[in-house]
Amino acid sequence: MKIAPSILSANFAELAKDVQVVEEAGAEYLHIDIMDGHFVPNLTFGAKLVKDLRPYSKMVFDCHLMVDNPEEVIPDYVDAGADIIGVHYEATPHLHRALDMIKKAGVKAEVVINPGTPVSVLSEVLGMVDQVLVMTVDPGFGGQKFLPETMDKVRELVRIREEKGYTYEIEVDGGVKDHTIKDCAAAGVDVAVAGSYVFDAENPAEKIDTLRLSANE
Ligand code: DX5
Ligand code: ZN
Repeated sequence: MKIAPSILSANFAELAKDVQVVEEAGAEYLHIDIMDGHFVPNLTFGAKLVKDLRPYSKMVFDCHLMVDNPEEVIPDYVDAGADIIGVHYEATPHLHRALDMIKKAGVKAEVVINPGTPVSVLSEVLGMVDQVLVMTVDPGFGGQKFLPETMDKVRELVRIREEKGYTYEIEVDGGVKDHTIKDCAAAGVDVAVAGSYVFDAENPAEKIDTLRLSANE
């Protein structure tokens, strides 16, 4: 399983340093949470931060857009150097258009669903996406409790991928820790995001090792 530390829980005043620590620890993806204060009740940062951070890291930049009408800002994240751009099913009536914009720009397209949203609504886009993100908490904040019932959706996505011959990776985000990552691994998750578990620790690199070991047990 790939590990994607979320910088939401990093120290924003020492961001480049925190990013370097998780990169040296072998994290494959850097998960970047963009929140607009409308789609979710919290506000983070925009495309400029992604652009400024880009020269500091070779990790895959996984930009999770928690913004209304993401199609309006997708070009900014493409220009900033995102490798994956994730848009929420719940955030736009133009889901296909948004995913198509990302793909046409040569960036990997990801669709995201909240805990209250079923996999069935994604039937028309699963064939076109590179990644599906199943939220394992309601988005907006770090440090929330993992919702184990979301693992049914992961299993459903594994089954659909096999049946239809699709190629998407399955990612989870929220409440991932040493014990919950075991459920994720058992369900078939490919990429696990972890924010507070990694960055609230004295030694983030050690936490990444622990996650990897727990996932492979
Ligand atoms: C939540 C964000 C997550 C967050 C996860 O809305 O999308 O990426 O950083 O934080 P933890 O791992 O602390 O639940
Ligand atoms: Zn996220």
